[in-house]
Amino acid sequence: MPEAIGFDVYGTLVDPLEMNERLEPIAGELSGRLAALWREKQLEYTFRRGLMRKYEDFDSCTSQALVFASGVLGVELSEQERERLIEEYQSLNLFPDVITGIEALKERGHPLVAFSNGVEATVRALLDRAGALPHFQDVISVDDLKTFKPDPEVYRYLTRRLGTEPSETWLVSSNPFDVIGGKAVGLKTVWIQRNPETQFDPWGIEPDLVVPNLEALAEKL
Ligand code: LAC
Repeated sequence: MPEAIGFDVYGTLVDPLEMNERLEPIAGELSGRLAALWREKQLEYTFRRGLMRKYEDFDSCTSQALVFASGVLGVELSEQERERLIEEYQSLNLFPDVITGIEALKERGHPLVAFSNGVEATVRALLDRAGALPHFQDVISVDDLKTFKPDPEVYRYLTRRLGTEPSETWLVSSNPFDVIGGKAVGLKTVWIQRNPETQFDPWGIEPDLVVPNLEALAEKL
């Protein structure tokens, strides 16, 4: 029986830094820095909220991180602009290798799920708009547990929902902190290193497989 695969969403299936282009008309040459700081702060908020046990969902972390990042860079956003950007965040495009990669893996009989920090309804809408939702048998969100990656509980929850043993479950993510989180509870992990310059954390916890995209993953797995 081919092993089940959980796919991280933001950074792995869609690119949050693509917001760069959508920020351009408002932020001009600061748009790249703003998109990067927005993403960084969004993740920091999830880490901090998880540790503090002061859960507010990923949509809220995303929105608060935008307020922070635009404030730091002095980019003024009206409430309307902020709302529009948050809406656009839900229509990010898939990386070009995603559909072919997951189709190939599905054909080989791997059960596929999306597994995200994102709120289930938001992730479903995002994947549906992008045309990927029908390829996944489920969307599993940390929101059910009111905590975030890399809390070990969320990775155990993934295996509980799949009905699999950790050692027979793959986690596919471009986010090193996510790969390390999954590996720490015994999942098999794939790091999608989309950019050869991206560094992996030197913690001595290594992914089982490193590939540049999902098409390469389908060839290797
Ligand atoms: C996710 C974040 C980690 O989709 O990108 O879970």
